Amino acid sequence: MDLNQKLIDKRETSKLGGGLKRIEAQHSKGKLTARERIELLLDEDSFNEMGMFVEHRATKFGLDKQTYPGDGVVTGFGTIHGRLVYVFSQDFTVLGGSLSETHAEKICKIMDLAMKNQAPVIGLNDSGGARIQEGVVSLAGYADIFYRNTKASGFIPQLSVIMGPCAGGAVYSPALTDFIFMVEDTSYMFVTGPNVVKTVTHEEVTSEDLGGAKTHAEKSGVNHFTSPNDVTVLKEVRDLMSYLPQNCQSLAPHTTKFEFDKTKIDRIGQILPANSTLPYDIREVIDCVIDDNSFREVHKDFATNIVVGFARVEGRTIGVVANQPMSMAGVLDIDSSRKGARFVRFCDAFNIPLLTFEDVPGFLPGTDQEWNGIIVHGAKLLYAFSEATVPRITIITRKAYGGAFDVMNSKNIGADLNFAWPTAEIAVMGAKGAAEIIFKREISDATDPEAKWKEKETEYANMFANPYRAAERGIIDDVILPSETRNKVIAAFKMLESKREEIPPKKHGNIPM
Ligand code: HXC
Repeated sequence: MDLNQKLIDKRETSKLGGGLKRIEAQHSKGKLTARERIELLLDEDSFNEMGMFVEHRATKFGLDKQTYPGDGVVTGFGTIHGRLVYVFSQDFTVLGGSLSETHAEKICKIMDLAMKNQAPVIGLNDSGGARIQEGVVSLAGYADIFYRNTKASGFIPQLSVIMGPCAGGAVYSPALTDFIFMVEDTSYMFVTGPNVVKTVTHEEVTSEDLGGAKTHAEKSGVNHFTSPNDVTVLKEVRDLMSYLPQNCQSLAPHTTKFEFDKTKIDRIGQILPANSTLPYDIREVIDCVIDDNSFREVHKDFATNIVVGFARVEGRTIGVVANQPMSMAGVLDIDSSRKGARFVRFCDAFNIPLLTFEDVPGFLPGTDQEWNGIIVHGAKLLYAFSEATVPRITIITRKAYGGAFDVMNSKNIGADLNFAWPTAEIAVMGAKGAAEIIFKREISDATDPEAKWKEKETEYANMFANPYRAAERGIIDDVILPSETRNKVIAAFKMLESKREEIPPKKHGNIPM
């Protein structure tokens, strides 16, 4: 037989994975195959496969009669927008995409190359977890991957796309990466599935409720991006990649093609309601400052009282962190602090400048928050901003009260430039509460305590419900008109382009976990 033909035939066999019947089953669930997904993810004809003929070495439980070239995962490298990326795509048609010793070796091989060549890794996950028939060697394989995920963390971007039922070890590698994308209705993530849950805790729960895209987007915050199907999710991964650098030593790509609708310069001044206790959508403010249509919100449905995401200003990537007055008045609580902290740390690790919009009435009080550790979780956001050495700008649009003022990228925790709008209120607490505490005796001794309270509230508000006390002390650098915001932000980031700030030499910090 012609040796070249033999190779071509072997390739065709490998490409069939678990066979036509299983490919049909995969398609009938609305899912693409591992290879079809790679085709959509990467630039056309850019994929170079590695390890196509790798087979497992297991013999127990009939596995000696069940070998599939490639062993349930397609691995290799290619490009997205012309830039190098490494990719692995698990093949559910081969033993449910389960992870064997050799399957793990293939993933580790591309991760090692990604580290040496300092380029991102994207994992397309569709796996039933450790290959049960192989026992401990598949567990060890997972550990090999987790170890590499951790070493690569903060060094190269790592993205995980969940495109099927991912159970057991299959969820922990994604959890160690930077961003998780999930597909509605076809992807699940859980440590153990509904059957085990029922046996152990007697809870009856569907896969969707336990670990579907919506659950992880809204309740747990495990899922950063939700898409309706395989095609859309892969487009969104490509889009996100256009905002990210290749590694921690490089900058995100700079595009000179950007647009800015100049009517937004006037519109921005009309967003805040006249009554400062009423809500507004901070995303409208963000939109009026950044390049048109450039905001990519991360964690959109989780902890909606804070908004985080990537954007561009004159074609350069920035990270935006903003209190959202429309949700719980923009208060900081456990989940919003965790969400903000994680995003700030990603941006700092990958040289992405930070723009913060602040309108925060304080930390959320109460037993629920205290007993669940708001002190430690709030400290995460404080720590993340404090340690960030990327260019950092803050715009105080309205409320900046109490500890939350300090936490939200304040000047004294290292922000480079802090601006306030004329509507800013910068104080230890709201005027009503402040008057009640510091004028307690005067109010109770007054013939009309209610009127006295009102008078003292006004006195405190006149003193602090404005940006000027902070401006007098240099705690903010300038008071600006809303319409000046974009130009101020552009000038500030330009000024900070050559910023270099060293952190004291140490092994690593000890972020409050
Ligand atoms: C070997 C597996 C497998 C696994 C699925 N398959 N999971 N084979 N090891 N872990 C095989 C099935 O036997 C089946 O083979 C094929 O894949 C498709 O599986 P189905 O069950 O028919 O598909 P579906 O109904 O869609 O259910 C998918 C699933 C379910 C939800 C993933 O298969 C499942 O619950 N699997 C086990 C999940 C699990 O508990 N994993 C934990 C492993 S322990 P045939 O030949 O019939 O087509 C672990 C610990 C690591 O991961 C810890 C690290 C911290």
